[in-house]
Amino acid sequence: MIINKLKIKNYRNFKDAEIELNNSLNIFIGDNGQGKTNLMESIYLSSIGRTFRLNSENELINFSENKSSVEISLIKNNYNMKIDLLLEKNKRKTVHINGVKLDKTSEMIGILNNVIFTPDDMRIIKGSPVERRKFINIDISQIKPKYKYLLNKYKKVVTERNIILKNYYTNPQNKDIINIWNDYLVNTGSDIIFLRNEYIEKLKHYAADIYADISGKKEKFEMSYCCNIGRSEYLDNEIIKKSFHEKVNNNIKNEIMRGTTLYGPHKDDIVIKIDGNECKYFGSQGQQRSAILSIKLAEIEIIKEETGEYPILLLDDVLSELDNKRKGYLMNYIKGIQTVITTTDDHDLKELTKFYNKKIFYINEGKIGNITN
Ligand SMILES: Nc1ncnc2c1ncn2[C@@H]1O[C@H](COP(=O)(O)OP(=O)(O)O)[C@@H](O)[C@H]1O
Ligand SMILES: [Mg+2]
Repeated sequence: MIINKLKIKNYRNFKDAEIELNNSLNIFIGDNGQGKTNLMESIYLSSIGRTFRLNSENELINFSENKSSVEISLIKNNYNMKIDLLLEKNKRKTVHINGVKLDKTSEMIGILNNVIFTPDDMRIIKGSPVERRKFINIDISQIKPKYKYLLNKYKKVVTERNIILKNYYTNPQNKDIINIWNDYLVNTGSDIIFLRNEYIEKLKHYAADIYADISGKKEKFEMSYCCNIGRSEYLDNEIIKKSFHEKVNNNIKNEIMRGTTLYGPHKDDIVIKIDGNECKYFGSQGQQRSAILSIKLAEIEIIKEETGEYPILLLDDVLSELDNKRKGYLMNYIKGIQTVITTTDDHDLKELTKFYNKKIFYINEGKIGNITN
């Protein structure tokens, strides 16, 4: 998959910008606060339908405007496609694909596949389980359209079930009603666990190989999916369902007492180990960086495996965080993958990409400058 053209209007600090991207490497150079991350965000938004930053949709629109648009032309499976995204203040955004309006903007996920790598991604290694669940949720949604639907459904089931648990003794009918919600919880939750399990299995194989390469085969990377229903490692939906049901039945009293759903994929985590020690607590900074780099590159491989095409790779200001060895590995890896890199300092990069087919842009105060090669 290749993005040919990107056109943004009144998006963040961009008034009007139109660029044609190179089909391999695109480098955007600019000082801090000029709009580099904003540009990445506009591509990400056209892929996932929301920002990776903590802003509301209104905040994506230029401060002095009421509307903003992002247009992307791409080639997917040899077809030309166009994504048009319109943001209007205090309204729901609208998305057109090849001129046809989508009923739900979530339907856009999976058209423009991306893998983004930013300094904030260290949260996947060092942060709470919430960060790791967010990360796999976005990843799986890109390749399995039904996953997003399952997640939304599961969230509603947990909310409703919690209301029943909290008010369990106020209504005698709740004794029967809870069984219905238990079934919903187990059925939807098991499907999620199954897909997460399948995804982590793939991710860990790719990431372990990449990590081994980066470390010169000196260190071992392991990754495991942890679900508090037990025995979820089996790739069999019936076994997952059975142990989930058992867990719910054995703990229902405790859940009523606490007034909340204690078991299920909303409590999942992923444990990453280097040479047997948990990376989050015992990994050196170098090991943690290698781990996140391996995971990001593994994400690319899974999208390739699932969709037949590489996603676009967005590297926002990460090169300065990597030492020369890791930077060299990454730059070598991206050959053949359309990549957008932003950086404040182009010195190393120019040297590293001397022989690459590339386009270089400058970003200054929301304006994208002339291309030099
Ligand atoms: N809705 C908005 N309208 C206008 N400017 C914005 C908006 N949101 C953010 N900005 C501006 O964008 C700039 C930050 O851009 P960013 O892409 O994060 O910079 P960097 O080049 O460092 O990645 C800041 O100057 C900020 O004020
Ligand atoms: Mg930035």
